[in-house]
Amino acid sequence: RTAVAQIPVVVHVVWNKPEQNISQAQIDSQISVLNDDFNAANSDLSKVPAAFRPLVGNPLIRFFLAKRDPEGKSTVGVTRTQTAIISFDHNSATDPLDQRMKFTAQGGTDGWPSDRYLNIWVCKQGGLQSLLGFAQFLGLSATTDGVVISHTAFGKGGTATSPFDLGRTASHEIGHWLNLLHIWGDDDGWGAGLLCSGTDLCDDTPNQAIPNRGGPAFPHITCRNGPNGDLFMNYMDYSDDATTVMFTKGQVARMDATLSGPRASLAG
Ligand code: ARG
Ligand code: ZN
Ligand code: CA
Repeated sequence: RTAVAQIPVVVHVVWNKPEQNISQAQIDSQISVLNDDFNAANSDLSKVPAAFRPLVGNPLIRFFLAKRDPEGKSTVGVTRTQTAIISFDHNSATDPLDQRMKFTAQGGTDGWPSDRYLNIWVCKQGGLQSLLGFAQFLGLSATTDGVVISHTAFGKGGTATSPFDLGRTASHEIGHWLNLLHIWGDDDGWGAGLLCSGTDLCDDTPNQAIPNRGGPAFPHITCRNGPNGDLFMNYMDYSDDATTVMFTKGQVARMDATLSGPRASLAG
């Protein structure tokens, strides 16, 4: 693909305390981060060590706040809903309560048709897992399709909180929404010996044991992946926002397949 795919976005701000009703500037900053990150135009791409530079891919995707709502009326592409729910607690991967922000009848707000919009819900996240965000993979219910981001990890400025205040949680979650898996293959937690058996189904990402946190020093070697080690500067790792700066060509191929396949109706 040489043309840039254009994806309409609606941001649903679901707030309890007034500070969670984030500003338009905080929303705009997130859209601008996405447009840098998904066009390999982020200035911190220069942090990629020379040995990994040939792996850098360019997804060629532009995100924009929708200008028409589902009825065709003019919109700013943002909905704002006051809720009585103090915190949308996330306790497991399967608890239906985790999805309440996505339903008007449950204290959230209904998503817009997921074949025409990328729905992004922004709310307070808490609970056992206290996530920065989570995404829905392909092929699941249309009513819950999209991504959820904590207001503390959304965009820059406002309520965005260090070290997750550079908008990279949305880059990570939208990566999942476009069918990317975690770079370490999600085989952590299964005990010693299995840490190197998982795969993210991309040929060009080094095999990696477990998620990285913070900002590792290069090279960080696991799973006999020397001399260059883990690609901890990839958006699909768990490193801090200032550390994650790139997608690979293999990841771009998976996102391309999603945009020409299951999510083709979204990419204008
Ligand atoms: N789902 C992950 C979490 O909640 C998101 C990780 C995003 N990483 C980042 N650097 N912002 O922990
Ligand atoms: Zn993830
Ligand atoms: Ca692994």
